[in-house]
Amino acid sequence: MAIRLEVVPTAAALADAAAARFLAVVKDALAQRGVCRVALAGGSTPRGAYERIASEWQASGAGIVWSRIHVYWGDERMVAPDDPRSNYGMARAALLSKVPIPADNVHAVPTDAANAASAAARYDEALRAAATAGDLPRFDLVFLGLGADGHTASLFPGAPTLDETARLATVAKHPDTGEPRVTMTFPVLNHAAALIALVSGAEKARVLERVVRGVGRPAGSPLLPAERLKPNAGTLTFLADEDAAPWARSANTGPNT
Ligand code: 6PG
Repeated sequence: MAIRLEVVPTAAALADAAAARFLAVVKDALAQRGVCRVALAGGSTPRGAYERIASEWQASGAGIVWSRIHVYWGDERMVAPDDPRSNYGMARAALLSKVPIPADNVHAVPTDAANAASAAARYDEALRAAATAGDLPRFDLVFLGLGADGHTASLFPGAPTLDETARLATVAKHPDTGEPRVTMTFPVLNHAAALIALVSGAEKARVLERVVRGVGRPAGSPLLPAERLKPNAGTLTFLADEDAAPWARSANTGPNT
């Protein structure tokens, strides 16, 4: 599987490029199958991309039909939607509140559940309900982030969730804050047609070089969560700004390309 690295000059260019990829994937999926399923990332990096998608749609319609697009999340913090930490809340403010997507098409992690375990169980059911062939939903696009420790979604280094093969969603806990979360698991992520990790900032440069090129991976060390992204029938792209990839010179510098 080839890992593709695309480097753009700035965080603003990253937002533009991510929005362009989103719109291209959605248009293609709608043309091919009349429906599109995407999963959004949380954290701070994707906000600019979501805002750009909204402004593109507001300016021109962008050739997409929101009633045919279903939005999920790769992970969520167990907080209320109006909590500033909410990944759903961030996407709602930056994008979903600005476009005519039907409420039934917005599949947020049910953080109103009694606890993370029941939220994860309900989200697992929602993901299974999205499956069209077999028991795994195939997302047309999954946006992801990359933590400086190599985590992605809420799959953290050394967590037992990395080896989860049955559940499509499970409970996670932030290693520093202990914050309860719900995350998609690798069976779902690696079944996607396109995984695109959005990576910005100098603090990600080392981990990104390791994930993309294997540089700095101690012999015999376990793979970082982001190193375990291996779409079985899809593409994996790291879309980064120059601050996150000062070591890269060409547009396609993955270890297997
Ligand atoms: C989250 C994300 C997490 C995030 C990375 C990068 O809920 O925080 O799922 O995986 O994408 O930590 O976050 P930044 O974009 O803020 O650097």
